[in-house]
Amino acid sequence: MFNPDLDRLRHYPFQRLRDLLGDTPPGGEAIDLSIGEPKHGLPDFLAGEVVANAALFGKYPPAAGSAALRRAIAAWLGRRYGLEDKIDADRHVCALNGTREGLYMLGQVVRRAGGREGEAVMLMPNPFYQCYLAAAVMNGARPVTLAATAENGFLPDPDALDDDLLQACELFYLCSPANPQGAVAGRDYLARLIALARRYDFLLAADECYAEIYDRDPPPGVLDVAAETGSFENVVAFHSLSKRSSAPGLRSGFIAGDERVIARMIRLRSYGGAPLPGPLDAASARAWEDEDHVRANRERYRRNIDIAEECLGGRFGFYRPQGGFFLWLDVGDGEAACRRLWREAGVKTLPGRYLCLDDAQGGNAAAAYLRVALVHDGETTRRGLARLAAVLDAPVAERRMERMQ
Ligand SMILES: Cc1ncc(COP(=O)(O)O)c(C=O)c1O
Repeated sequence: MFNPDLDRLRHYPFQRLRDLLGDTPPGGEAIDLSIGEPKHGLPDFLAGEVVANAALFGKYPPAAGSAALRRAIAAWLGRRYGLEDKIDADRHVCALNGTREGLYMLGQVVRRAGGREGEAVMLMPNPFYQCYLAAAVMNGARPVTLAATAENGFLPDPDALDDDLLQACELFYLCSPANPQGAVAGRDYLARLIALARRYDFLLAADECYAEIYDRDPPPGVLDVAAETGSFENVVAFHSLSKRSSAPGLRSGFIAGDERVIARMIRLRSYGGAPLPGPLDAASARAWEDEDHVRANRERYRRNIDIAEECLGGRFGFYRPQGGFFLWLDVGDGEAACRRLWREAGVKTLPGRYLCLDDAQGGNAAAAYLRVALVHDGETTRRGLARLAAVLDAPVAERRMERMQ
């Protein structure tokens, strides 16, 4: 009776983390650096907007988001990417109940007969946000992961894609700034992928959820690079208030770009989607209109990265991520380090391999890594990272001695 494809989705990273740590008690005050859940608090206007619009709970919300929200999103895209006269709120924007559901549903919007083997594929970086895998698996496409390693700057190499693969590709997920490595795709890189998407007629979906959290320069967006060619054809971008506005529980994001995709997405959502409830829609519009809280958030993340540099600089392959709020540390064996950090110091992290599919030989390109989320206030971040450094720096023999005492 059950869909066998669902059995291919048994390895959600946080379940694996729970399995790894089991009932081992934390070796100190627990500090959770495993999940990318911002802890900086909601913008102060948000709750007031929800309450002021509470009467909208009495209405069915529109599938694409209210006209006011779509206008606020279009205006934000205009300001952020210089797209003022190019984005049409009605044609190019659809609000989402968090971007995850949109990233997933997009898999139902595309179909292609497939390449030489008659099989459609979805391309995604490796490691990657797990929702992309679910979109492929649940829509009968073969997920094909593309190495995103230190050697290629943590971005899949478009030149490594062969003709057969591109012929079979229906959807290409790109994540920039990248979760987990913080790499940012430059304008030339984006232009190359857009050109490929049009040449082979696949959809390029750029997950830009971390676009507003950056160290120095604002990351370019796929839509502003596409706009230089005069159209958004074959290109969509995803954005979210979860990270930008520290509101992951609001469940608010959007998809924007190619109007053919947006029209189909809205149609699909009219039948089977979960629109953003009215009061949350109204609060979201307000959030896209406000930049003050976003600037303040960005500063907090910068300070956390400064703290990380002080605590870890020169060790564990530390580098400042260009975007996002994760450290991607090379600790030799991510799983072993994760277990030790929890058991010896109460610091919870995520082994890199849980975000990365094994290769054909059973190797895992992220096995050496640990993902560390810098989502807390500076104090907590410093405490967590100081303990992380102390545990990972201590020679194994010394740690054994300490445990015996
Ligand atoms: C790369 C990436 N894309 C999408 C999402 C989903 O965000 P949302 O909360 O908008 O569903 C996340 C959340 O962690 C993410 O890391």
